[in-house]
Amino acid sequence: MKIREIQHPLIRHKLGLMRRNDISTKNFRELAQEIAALLTYEATKDMPVETHTIQGWCGNVDVEKLAGKKITVVPILRAGLGMLDGVLSLIPSARVSMIGLVRNEETLEADTYMEKLVGELNQRRALIVDPMLATGGSMIATIELLKRAGAHEIRALVLVAAPEGIKRVNALHPDVEIFTASVDERLNEQGYIIPGLGDAGDKIFGTR
Ligand code: URA
Repeated sequence: MKIREIQHPLIRHKLGLMRRNDISTKNFRELAQEIAALLTYEATKDMPVETHTIQGWCGNVDVEKLAGKKITVVPILRAGLGMLDGVLSLIPSARVSMIGLVRNEETLEADTYMEKLVGELNQRRALIVDPMLATGGSMIATIELLKRAGAHEIRALVLVAAPEGIKRVNALHPDVEIFTASVDERLNEQGYIIPGLGDAGDKIFGTR
């Protein structure tokens, strides 16, 4: 199973606050970015570093810097934007690729209405961000789009994941590791995660 439910106490605490029904837009927004930063910390733990020599205050000093592959963050519009700044707070020079998907009510599949990907995707680690992994439809469409464009090292950061969505993503893309603050119980008949957070996009943008 390529699912990593992060047990950090700060994440557990912050997610608990996000589940309150009376949470304000401001607090929901802030907590989404904070958890995104904490998930980023976990998802980048294995990034390679290399040593080089710099001029320090008392002469030459060997320091480390990130080596090799660079990162592109990939928010899935619109709710993914609610996690973007959290990721960028730790990786400020990451490139951002945007994917906009809308559910086609006839085919029930995700149609792409926006696709703005950075170059040289085959040389970058892609971090897809979307608060809710529900049925997995948008995540799978995004992974496939990135792979077609050359990406082969893909990770996903989601605040809450449903077992149904995890299973679908894993079945089709077992190479993609998913980092989440919580694996919840199930999806309801309307496709909402239970207990979940409700409509994350509405809560982030204040449109509920
Ligand atoms: N999208 C949301 O915003 N919430 C869910 O529970 C499922 C999908």
